[in-house]
Amino acid sequence: MKLKFLPITIFRETPKVLFFDASLEESNGCDLVIHSEEAISPPDDFKEEQYYVHNHQIDHNLVINGERTFVLINTSWDEPHHVIYLKRSMGALEIPIGTYHRSISGKKGSIVLNQPKKDKFFDSKREFIPKKLNNKSLIKARKSPPIYWIWENDKIKRFSFNPLERRVKTHN
Ligand SMILES: [Fe+2]
Repeated sequence: MKLKFLPITIFRETPKVLFFDASLEESNGCDLVIHSEEAISPPDDFKEEQYYVHNHQIDHNLVINGERTFVLINTSWDEPHHVIYLKRSMGALEIPIGTYHRSISGKKGSIVLNQPKKDKFFDSKREFIPKKLNNKSLIKARKSPPIYWIWENDKIKRFSFNPLERRVKTHN
């Protein structure tokens, strides 16, 4: 399974200034999700994980500030479980229709700009209802070893183990 990351166009980058084009041609929405400190979207429900899953919008999530970890689960994929340590430099992460997803910020919080593509049946009252993993195949996918996506040496890389844990271990 190859995830899609839509690149951003940087106009100017200096130690104090970053100026870039964040627009996406195919998008018809502009949603900002601001986490101050550690936060989860959608929040857990009494310690049980909750996810968003869309029927009428394709998400394109771009980190504006900080770092955000996305978890994606889609039982129709050959690799159904992904963990993405998303940074701005990776571009906008596309989340296809029918994909269970949630995102978690680190201690400093983060700002994510979602520029989705909504179809004519989009209804905000229905698209953003948090869901639990309520069937066997979803729970099995969640328990399967994830594919990890990280930004390393100016490239998006995928791993079948957690490279950040490896790094922590290396330093110990
Ligand atoms: Fe979403």
